[in-house]
Amino acid sequence: IPQQRNPSKKMKFCFTFYLKQSGCRHFQSSAVNYSTMLLEADSERLYVGARGAVFALNASDISASSALTIDWEASPEQKHQCLLKGKDNKTECFNHIRLLQRFNSTHLYMCGTNAYRPLCAYIDVERFVISSQPEEGRDKCPYGPTTGYTALIIDQQIYTASQYEFRSFPDIRRNSPSPTLKTEDAPTRWLNEADFVGSVLVRESVGSSAGDDDKIYFFFTEISQQQTPTYSHSRVARVARVCKEDRGGHLTLQKRWTSFLKTRLTCSLPEYDFHFNILRSVFTLPGQTPQDTFFYGIFGLEWKNVKASAVCRFTLSEVQEAFQGPYMENQDSGSKWKEYTGKIPDPRPGTCITDALRARNMNFSTSLPDDVLNFVRRHPLMSKQVEPADRRPLLFRRTTDYTHMGVHTAQGLDGQTYYVLYMGTDEGWLHKAVDIKGQLHIIEELQLFEEPQPVNNLLISDKQWSVYMGSPSGVVQLPLSSCGRYTSCYDCIFARDPHCAWNGAECVDVVMQADRSTLIQDIQHGTEGCENTQGDVVHRNRSVRVGDDVLLQCELSSNLATPLWMLDGRQVQGYDLNSGFRTGTDGLLIIDARQDQSGLYTCYGVENGVKVAIVTYNVTIRLDLHPPPNMKAIYLSLITILGGLCVVLTVVLIYVGFCLRVGHRGKYSIRAAAALKTISSHCNGNGICNGGSKMHNGNIQDGGLLQIVPGEGHTSPRCDFSNGLSATLPSVLRRMHGNSYVLLRQSDSENMSPPGYSFAEELNKILEKRKRTQLLPRPDESSV
Ligand SMILES: *[C@@H]1O[C@H](CO)[C@@H](O)[C@H](O)[C@H]1NC(C)=O
Ligand SMILES: *[C@@H]1O[C@H](CO)[C@@H](O)[C@H](O)[C@H]1NC(C)=O
Ligand SMILES: *[C@@H]1O[C@H](CO)[C@@H](O)[C@H](O)[C@H]1NC(C)=O
Ligand SMILES: *[C@@H]1O[C@H](CO)[C@@H](O)[C@H](O)[C@H]1NC(C)=O
Ligand SMILES: *[C@@H]1O[C@H](CO)[C@@H](O)[C@H](O)[C@H]1NC(C)=O
Repeated sequence: IPQQRNPSKKMKFCFTFYLKQSGCRHFQSSAVNYSTMLLEADSERLYVGARGAVFALNASDISASSALTIDWEASPEQKHQCLLKGKDNKTECFNHIRLLQRFNSTHLYMCGTNAYRPLCAYIDVERFVISSQPEEGRDKCPYGPTTGYTALIIDQQIYTASQYEFRSFPDIRRNSPSPTLKTEDAPTRWLNEADFVGSVLVRESVGSSAGDDDKIYFFFTEISQQQTPTYSHSRVARVARVCKEDRGGHLTLQKRWTSFLKTRLTCSLPEYDFHFNILRSVFTLPGQTPQDTFFYGIFGLEWKNVKASAVCRFTLSEVQEAFQGPYMENQDSGSKWKEYTGKIPDPRPGTCITDALRARNMNFSTSLPDDVLNFVRRHPLMSKQVEPADRRPLLFRRTTDYTHMGVHTAQGLDGQTYYVLYMGTDEGWLHKAVDIKGQLHIIEELQLFEEPQPVNNLLISDKQWSVYMGSPSGVVQLPLSSCGRYTSCYDCIFARDPHCAWNGAECVDVVMQADRSTLIQDIQHGTEGCENTQGDVVHRNRSVRVGDDVLLQCELSSNLATPLWMLDGRQVQGYDLNSGFRTGTDGLLIIDARQDQSGLYTCYGVENGVKVAIVTYNVTIRLDLHPPPNMKAIYLSLITILGGLCVVLTVVLIYVGFCLRVGHRGKYSIRAAAALKTISSHCNGNGICNGGSKMHNGNIQDGGLLQIVPGEGHTSPRCDFSNGLSATLPSVLRRMHGNSYVLLRQSDSENMSPPGYSFAEELNKILEKRKRTQLLPRPDESSV
């Protein structure tokens, strides 16, 4: 599976030394697990629910000292009870705030797990205190902190979906005030171990000529009971919906939804028949009208040990279409589901009450006929699946697990509307990407926390020009853009950030500019507009002796750029081992310099096919055959002394080595001496090596250098070593208890051709590894 391109910027963003310049703001307190957030643009407040506390922060600057706090811990008594129930007193036996929403103009409503005995309470917003005695929460709030859950408060009615108690069935509920409604368990179970990730109200009544109702959509992953030859996935992503004015049935489906329907959301790579079945989170992007609503889903794989994510975008109209289509039917209540082809009762089962029904005196769901409700009861699942717009993911990415996302619409200078996506990862990074013709281009990757930790939620405020993210350790606020980080015209253009443009002197935020006529931006291609600007090329001189190794440094500021070296106008071939050159992302290495390698070297960064000069070196390679005679004696005596020392040391080492061998049999460390040489021979970057072997064998560690090949002698047959590696192969293979291993360089991106690597980085990694190496005495594949 091909890999997505790298972003142009990748940086540690929210660390102390960047704080000022990046506009990054932190909120932290003694509480942990900042898991719920509520942003209210009008009051400029960000409410955050954590473990045992709720905060009201100033949304324009969450680090401001004006934070208000409500402490709401589980009582010691309750914690003790929780422990007795066999729950974990490090994670579960606390009051994790799971619901925090606006209830009415004066109050918020919140629910907490309260150490496995959920409670809910109202918050007086004005005074920011709990305004009444907490009430029972077991019908609205899950018991645990990580149980899938979603909740909405609409017109003071509370809609929740979860598998509330450990053993209970999952359920979509409308709670107080009455009538309370639930999903049905028999004879057909409407939900199967559903893991809920989101819900949203779409006001479809607005502008509806049919007098349609508002609808609430729920998103989750559940066990599929369907077994068909084409797919045998046990889990599937789903969207379900109910009508807001549903009141349940009169006799049949009493206190049950009469409008519950669900169908599958697919997010797959058709050409590989590769399905992302786990829905991790959903973001709803409202449009001009309710019909223009988009749902963005982050999908993952069922295999827990493989990191991969896909982002798919669905339109409301496709979802609606599926709910208008044929139903599925469960044959003899076994696992055989097939499309229902019989007669469908009238009015159509599962639809909301519309003008047409009101005209027939069916004003509420309670007046729907029994045969319709009986049909609803047995046919919750639709046959038609919802495909993403464009029939494929906007983005899929190995090695990254996205957790939450938000979308911001931006107007490009070319007059087009662009969707800018902000995606948080399980390791505390934020990726910013732009949707260009149905493909996501990742603009930048920012590391938010020093300690890797998941982004637990993400909100966007256009008004505050901010993205907010909650995590186990705190809340982070970032500006939607910080174009000032792009220091040259090309940097600014290559980023393809719709928020940024070059004004002739610097990269600026487009929204801040009154006069946009002279701004330069090229989102579509990321190539044009800088032809007439002068870059700053650094000039340096180097003078070395024949036979020396010389490193000419050239730092590329963009991850997407590949280095290109020219010597007196001819391209330097740095990949052929015989040429005497090696190219890395941080420089050119001249090995064993010859006189004919003197000349003017220019380093270019090539990005999007555009060549930008970065640095030039005037290299002189001298022939220096005769060292001064008086130095000779000094050298000779030095050599003698060193030789003597060597002998002594060798004796000591042999002795010590012998002792160690006796003492710690089987211990060893990796020899790293020849590693640099090894690494410089790489797979040829057309994806054969890194793409193929990684997904299929799954035994190459991401970002690592070491692959253990079981048995003797041969490296992975998928690797094409024709690019010079075969010549050095014998020295590459090392042996270890019957296993041979080979050090490999993995290129993250197949589009970086030839694959660049940084000498300094590799060396650091090797040294770092060497320090920490504590391999098992008998390594096998599973220990890598
Ligand atoms: C929030 O912070 C901004 C700037 O720091 C300040 O102007 C504003 O008054 C604050 N708002 C509240 C409600 O404290
Ligand atoms: C959790 O419970 C164990 C005993 O069951 C106890 O030793 C430990 O101190 C408790 N930890 C906390 C944080 O209360
Ligand atoms: C909002 O709800 C709370 C709790 O039920 C109630 O005490 C309060 O009076 C309500 N406020 C308004 C303006 O209705
Ligand atoms: C249903 O609504 C229509 C129009 O709103 C009204 O004329 C009719 O009387 C209602 N029927 C019942 C049974 O309430
Ligand atoms: C809560 O935070 C702690 C550390 O800050 C983390 O280990 C734990 O997994 C978090 N729990 C949840 C439910 O997020």
